[in-house]
Amino acid sequence: MENFITLLLVIIFAPLNMANYKCNKESPPRVPKYHMMEKCHRSKLGIAAKANYSTLTSCQRLGIEKKALALNFSPPNAVKEGDEPLEYTCEVLKCAEADGGLSLVNDTRYDYYSIYARPIPNVNATCVPATGMFYLLTTRHNFSQAVQECANISAVLADITSEQRTDTLAQVLAGASVDAALVGLRRTNESSFQTLNGDALDCTTYRAWAPGHPRRHAAQYDCALITRQRTWRSVACKGKHPVLCELVPGGPYKRGSIFASRRHKSNVFSCSTFFSAHQKFRALAPEKVGHNKNAKLPMAKILQYPELRVNPFRDRICKVFSSSNDGDCTFEDFLDMMSVFSEMAPKAVKAEHAFRIFDFDGDDMIGVSDLREVIERLCGPDLKLSDSEIQQLVQNVLEEADLDDDGALSFAEFEHIIDKSSDFCHSFRIRL
Ligand SMILES: *[C@@H]1O[C@H](CO)[C@@H](O)[C@H](O)[C@H]1NC(C)=O
Ligand SMILES: *[C@@H]1O[C@H](CO)[C@@H](O)[C@H](O)[C@H]1NC(C)=O
Ligand SMILES: *[C@@H]1O[C@H](CO)[C@@H](O)[C@H](O)[C@H]1NC(C)=O
Ligand SMILES: *[C@@H]1O[C@H](CO)[C@@H](O)[C@H](O)[C@H]1NC(C)=O
Ligand SMILES: *[C@@H]1O[C@H](CO)[C@@H](O)[C@H](O)[C@H]1NC(C)=O
Ligand SMILES: *[C@@H]1O[C@H](CO)[C@@H](O)[C@H](O)[C@H]1NC(C)=O
Repeated sequence: MENFITLLLVIIFAPLNMANYKCNKESPPRVPKYHMMEKCHRSKLGIAAKANYSTLTSCQRLGIEKKALALNFSPPNAVKEGDEPLEYTCEVLKCAEADGGLSLVNDTRYDYYSIYARPIPNVNATCVPATGMFYLLTTRHNFSQAVQECANISAVLADITSEQRTDTLAQVLAGASVDAALVGLRRTNESSFQTLNGDALDCTTYRAWAPGHPRRHAAQYDCALITRQRTWRSVACKGKHPVLCELVPGGPYKRGSIFASRRHKSNVFSCSTFFSAHQKFRALAPEKVGHNKNAKLPMAKILQYPELRVNPFRDRICKVFSSSNDGDCTFEDFLDMMSVFSEMAPKAVKAEHAFRIFDFDGDDMIGVSDLREVIERLCGPDLKLSDSEIQQLVQNVLEEADLDDDGALSFAEFEHIIDKSSDFCHSFRIRL
């Protein structure tokens, strides 16, 4: 277990040493993130491009370049069984799976990633390749209701301020036999229209106003529709119309959707390991466990496990493995913990759990506050770092590892650090 701590130090402090030979590369533009949605699955939706890459980061770059909404990536350590030989390790996809993942298939060689971290709520969401996922509400709503209805499905009123968007979204309307739908353009006073993220329409040159639009009485004609004839019309926000929503990428993972599927595959335990784990579990509370297979031990008991007692992240480890999320563990939870910390567990599985352990606020990113917490815990109460020293360390970590400069580490960025740390697998473990 000391190894584990050393490793964390390696991960956290290695960037300090590397800062010396930093290249003068331009910082990459702000880009969408691909979130792991299902391990051991592959989407059969249309492929925009494919390549043989050994790292997820390279595959993600290809995705960004092709404006892919999702991707299949085969990590080097994936189980490559079955008859079909692997053609390419990275497939970037034009569309993301809608609810139910109808064309998602079991494939132990690949993991499926999507820019929509939440499962897409409705099978009837429409994909516009290289643009996004949209949902047309055919029931009529006024503007404020429309905003609510879109928010209800993690969406906003659609952005139509490009020719490509207006053209393809008009086809979506035509396909559903809807004449016109409310979109994300609005004027609040005499000034010109604004998109919902606050950009004035004047910032772009593209317009598709129907003849006579936008109508002059700004206070009255304060909202906009897209029509199936590929034009825009100004209307009153209080009027009711069908609504065109655009799903928002990102958002927190749905708990359990990511880690569930490989779970059984990573628990490759020999019988003796299984019994040894059960013995240890029972030893923590013989009176409670006895022969009761479903006994659940409170976190305080689990923390008495010798390997955990000295670990600065012990409570986090319990919480991450606890199926009730409160740190209490059943034997199955405990077995999962032992499995992930065992030598046999693949690096990718360890990395996912390490990420969750460090993501204290559970927002699916290791942000500044998470990094501070990690550093404070690693240093313990004895080594008192000043606030500015901690700040500096956080800064160094971000400078090295935060590839998209958004002030936090995504799982992909975290995985990238781990890829560079050769002894991660050996260190992130507990001996049974
Ligand atoms: C891609 O790499 C795999 C092995 O990882 C190999 O089997 C396959 O032939 C390669 N594909 C191409 C097109 O080179
Ligand atoms: C994929 O695997 C899971 C678990 O092994 C199984 O429940 C499911 O039915 C499988 N799905 C398909 C489409 O084979
Ligand atoms: C999707 O569309 C079909 C056909 O219009 C409809 O019958 C079905 O109820 C819709 N599903 C959902 C979840 O809205
Ligand atoms: C949003 O969803 C909730 C619960 O699913 C539902 O009760 C409500 O009517 C929906 N619409 C709005 C506008 O909130
Ligand atoms: C219109 O609204 C914007 C912000 O909503 C404000 O900054 C601007 O001064 C307003 N213009 C007029 C003419 O009221
Ligand atoms: C939209 O409709 C709701 C309910 O019908 C109403 O409360 C709200 O004031 C309306 N909003 C506008 C801007 O007319």
